[in-house]
Amino acid sequence: NGARAPGSCIPDDEKGYKLDLFCVPKHYEEDLDQVIIPHGLIMDRTERLARDIVRDMGGHHIVALCVLKGGYTFFADLLDYIKALNQNSDKSVPLTVDFIRLKSYCNDQSTNIVKVIGGDELSTLTGKNVLIVEDIVETGRTMETLLSLLSECNPKMVKVVSLLVKRTPRSSGYRPDYIGFEVPDLFLVGYALDYNEYFRDLSHICILNENAKEKYKV
Ligand code: IMP
Ligand code: MG
Repeated sequence: NGARAPGSCIPDDEKGYKLDLFCVPKHYEEDLDQVIIPHGLIMDRTERLARDIVRDMGGHHIVALCVLKGGYTFFADLLDYIKALNQNSDKSVPLTVDFIRLKSYCNDQSTNIVKVIGGDELSTLTGKNVLIVEDIVETGRTMETLLSLLSECNPKMVKVVSLLVKRTPRSSGYRPDYIGFEVPDLFLVGYALDYNEYFRDLSHICILNENAKEKYKV
């Protein structure tokens, strides 16, 4: 997998931003401690990831594979930036999209089983340059499972971009090729990251408080 990809590092003692500095839906005000990554900063980092990806993969047709559901916002924004590069330079790279749905979480705990629950046949990826787009890597198990499933279909190249990577002792050591931000070992929500399906309708990445973990428990 090459060198350790750098990600913008958010330290463990990061204070974040008070909620009332930004716009947060009223229905979530009681549930969040702080904004840890404001939406604008996510967009700025994503723009640069798009540039790095096109530089490395831009020679050939890219199939962007979105890992649902958590990856969908990042996927859409990243592709918009790649499209902007395509539209505004002399070189351009054809881009097609594909989706896969994986599930490994219940409440705030990663389970040991990673379930594939929908998506196209992975066999359509044979011989292609595949860019897997994920929201967050924690233990690395989800990505390792997906990579081993994919390798059975013999793609030409596989790269992984994850908006977030968590610094956690539970990590298997797996590192994606491209990383947006390296984050502390906290449960984060917003920008499509969810807690039992809630908080996808929040633009900023925020720290979930303990009350909310109880409130939305299943
Ligand atoms: P892993 O298999 O432990 O690497 O976990 C990856 C998956 O768990 C991600 O695709 C997310 O869906 C979910 N996940 C891990 N940490 C968080 C978090 O802090 N907030 C929301 N979802 C998370
Ligand atoms: Mg995910």
